[in-house]
This record gives sequence, C-alpha cells and structure tokens, in this order.
Amino acid sequence: MVEGLVTIERIETQTSPEGGCIEIWTLNRPDRLNALNRATHQELIQACDRAESNDNVRVVVITGAHSPQDTKRPKPKSFAAGADIAEFSGKSSDDVRPFFENNAWEKIWNLTKPTIAMVDGYALGGGTELALSCDIRIASEDSNFGQPEINLGLIPGGGGTQRLTKIVGYGHAMELILTGDMIPANRALEIGLVNSVVPSSKLRGEVIALATKIAEKSPYTIKVAKRAIRSALDLPLTQGILAERSEFVALFDTEDSSIGVEAFLSKQKPEWVGK
Ligand code: COA
Repeated sequence: MVEGLVTIERIETQTSPEGGCIEIWTLNRPDRLNALNRATHQELIQACDRAESNDNVRVVVITGAHSPQDTKRPKPKSFAAGADIAEFSGKSSDDVRPFFENNAWEKIWNLTKPTIAMVDGYALGGGTELALSCDIRIASEDSNFGQPEINLGLIPGGGGTQRLTKIVGYGHAMELILTGDMIPANRALEIGLVNSVVPSSKLRGEVIALATKIAEKSPYTIKVAKRAIRSALDLPLTQGILAERSEFVALFDTEDSSIGVEAFLSKQKPEWVGK
C-alpha cells in the first residue's frame, strides 16, 4: 500500500505463473470531495508511469476515498467533485495552460492497460472526466454525474467535450455540458455513460471480479484489443477495419495465440506467457 493523495493498493490475482495484480488507486482528499488539485494530478501521472512499466500490473481501478460519516457535518461520498476550484481563482490562460497540457486525464487515457472507474458518490466536472478517461465505468446507486463547468463560466477542460460526446453521443453531451445539470447513476446508465450500476455495498466486489476476469487473459492480447478498440474512436471505419485486420493477423505470430488455441483444443486452461 502506497499512501499519499493517491493511495495505491495491489491485489494479487495469482492466476498465471507470471503473477499479475490489480492496482486500486484511491483519490485521498475526502474533505475536498477528492477535488483534483495539481498535486493529485502529479501523483496520478507518476502512478501511470509506474503501472505502465510494471508488467505485473494487469488492470488499474480508480476510485475515491470517503470521509468518516460519524462527524457533526459529514461530507458527502465522492469519486471526485471536479478540478480543485480553489486553484482557478485569479488565474489567467498562461497560468493554467501548462497544467492542462500535462494532466492526469490524458495520461490515464493513454495507459495501454485496461482501466476501470469505480464510482461511489459525486463524479462531477473533472471527476466525470476522470471516469471518462477510464475504459469502463461501474457506479454505485448513490452516484451522480455531471459537467457543471458552465456554471463557473467555463467548459470541460479534461477531455469532457470530446470523450463524453464519443461515449454518450452528441445530444446527451450537449445537454449535460450546456445545462451543467447532475444526473443520477440510473440515468447515466440509460445514456451509456456507465457500464453498470450496483448497490454501494456490492461495488468493490463487482469491480474486483470484473478486473480479475480481465487480468486472467493474456496481458499482451489485452493490450492489442484495447489498441484496436481505440482505433474505432480515432479512425474512419474503413481505416479502422484495416487497423483491426493488421492487429488480428499479427497475433498469429504470438506465443499466446498458440497457447490459447492449443489449450482450447486440448480442453486445458491456457497458461499465458504474455508475448
Ligand atoms: N474544488 C474545491 N473544493 C471543493 C470542490 C471542488 N471542485 N467540490 C467540493 N469542494 C469542497 C467544498 O468547498 C467544501 O469545502 P468546505 O467543507 O471547506 O466548505 C467541501 O468540499 C464539501 O463540499 P460541499 O459543497 O460542502 O458539499 P455539498 O454536499 O453541499 O455539495 C457538491 C456537494 C458536489 C454538490 C458541491 O460541493 C459542488 O457543487 N462542488 C463543485 C462541483 C463542480 O463544480 N465541479 C467542477 C469543477 S470545474
């Protein structure tokens, strides 16, 4: 367990001879509803670099810490309530540009390993954008999503206008961004913003089960699959089909495709080597 503004926990999946683990990154500023200040971005960026270079890390889960509920004025549960608004005060474009050019949203989006946002509470502004930077979003029934930047005289700056539009479509993105309204988890599910909604008490178990299932596949093939799916967002269809074909055909030269095919034919469990 690595403690800081981002607490890092490792869960060994122990499903392959090579090991393999799920990393859970917990935003740890619950008194500020895990608002994403610069220091948190820096820690997330460093966590990305470490996870990317560590073959043992198979899946990254991102979530938010909750503050104790037994105080006089308990803070609401939050994944992340956005960028830290206190850091916006009195800033010019020259002040904020360097930070927005080197932010955790893009770093997480560019990870080659699968990422899951485990959302329990508010995911607003940069918090929704953080969830959108992940490949899969699982939310508790107690969660709320939104892009309230318009209420600050701003627009989303962590990829929200782009990734939200790709994920939920033009009309829903327009409505969310132009109104700044919050939507509950069940509405987020209806518009495809989240993959599934579960009771808060079951969230961690469901996410770990999902992450474990992915961690059990060939880590090499998982990276190729993620890259190929990304092509669908970046490329026109005809080029995307060509990109997929090229990735698919190349997999026939990997050890893991032989292992997978032979394991199926001999009714064995595949033991991946990751190449
Ligand atoms: N940046 C900095 N601080 C934040 C924050 C943010 N994005 N979101 C919440 N906080 C702080 C609050 O200022 C408050 O601090 P305090 O206890 O010192 O007063 C604390 O977190 C708890 O939030 P509070 O507003 O008291 O909780 P609430 O239950 O009344 O409301 C929200 C919860 C999420 C609706 C409300 O905090 C909110 O609207 N946050 C801003 C969301 C936003 O606009 N995000 C986009 C930023 S670009």
